[in-house]
Amino acid sequence: MKITVVKDYDEMSREAAEFMAQTIKEKNNAVLGLATGSTPEGLYSELIKKYKNGELDFSNITTINLDEYVGLKGDHPQSYRYFMNDKLFNHININKANTYVPNGLAENIEEECRNYDKRIEKLGGIDIQLLGIGNNGHIAFNEPEEELSASTHLTGLTQSTIEANSRFFDSMEEVPKTALTMGIGTILRSKKILLVASGESKAEVVAKMVSGKITTKVPATMLQLHSDVTLIIDEAAAKLINK
Ligand code: F6R
Repeated sequence: MKITVVKDYDEMSREAAEFMAQTIKEKNNAVLGLATGSTPEGLYSELIKKYKNGELDFSNITTINLDEYVGLKGDHPQSYRYFMNDKLFNHININKANTYVPNGLAENIEEECRNYDKRIEKLGGIDIQLLGIGNNGHIAFNEPEEELSASTHLTGLTQSTIEANSRFFDSMEEVPKTALTMGIGTILRSKKILLVASGESKAEVVAKMVSGKITTKVPATMLQLHSDVTLIIDEAAAKLINK
């Protein structure tokens, strides 16, 4: 893993946006794998700035998101479709028809998952996959378990993730308990991976991801198997990495 440690959240956002911008400049029809959550928000603002100052053109870009809650409509403020429109797509010149988020309302969930992986394959794979990391080591919604799924699938969320996500909902009861998520295999097939993390609460899990034993109990350790992973993390999140 290539590790870049920066001062704080703002610097992480700028560096990570610059890293993604390189891919977009090199390949104007790149396929970007995108994530939601608090961590990439600043990065998305930086990408919008780069679009507005004429540095980036998204007209031929395709995006594929990691995951979506089951049961929330795309216009629900906590759905990941809404998040992506609100934080990025509404502010750049991307064709929304080329932005994919799993459909958590699909009647046939298995078919939706199969088609999601097929779509990625048909697009020629993901050029760069952006990831955040959960405090428990989840990537996308691949939660710590005895076994992990390779392909896109329906998954239950762990109590710790439900609690972490409840900050965005009025009550714990409203937080969806299931989601559709890319599997570990889907993620590892990406040509390049960029993971961003910020803050002390991520320090322990970041250290495990970098140098812990590979285990399904910390899904992010699977990233050690990929040959092109870049971490852009701030000092607080990097604090426990063995120098
Ligand atoms: C989001 C996702 C999650 C988040 C993770 C960290 O699409 O797949 O794995 O990346 O939960 O979330 P934040 O950034 O809010 O700490």
